[in-house]
Amino acid sequence: MAYSDKVIDHYENPRNVGSFAKDDPTVATGLVGAPACGDVMKLQLKISDTGIIEDAKFKTYGCGSAIASSSLITEWVKGKSLEEAAAIKNTDISAELALPPVKIHCSILAEDAIKAAIDDYKSKKA
Ligand code: FES
Ligand code: FES
Repeated sequence: MAYSDKVIDHYENPRNVGSFAKDDPTVATGLVGAPACGDVMKLQLKISDTGIIEDAKFKTYGCGSAIASSSLITEWVKGKSLEEAAAIKNTDISAELALPPVKIHCSILAEDAIKAAIDDYKSKKA
């Protein structure tokens, strides 16, 4: 199967790979797995007092589409409010990366990672 140019670009030059310090109270973590293939994605968001995502990092153990999807969302969420980030849909990701049908679940993993990180933030705040 051929990957799109955008997938290859993110795969070869992934943006924002890495982790923030675990004990940083401004950091929320979303860790999700894809039952279909066993791939795992970790997304961390650094969130300001006013609920704006200031920075994002990811680590993904998975296919090229999963890596490209997570790289893309780290760029998209920066500067967004949590509400805006939560509104990012897997269909936005798969359209941007021109993912074929068998790779749609890779973009769903990325959407789930954003939601999981936001849930983590809310449970830390509560
Ligand atoms: Fe290997 Fe996605 S699990 S290609
Ligand atoms: Fe499973 Fe891409 S996340 S094949």
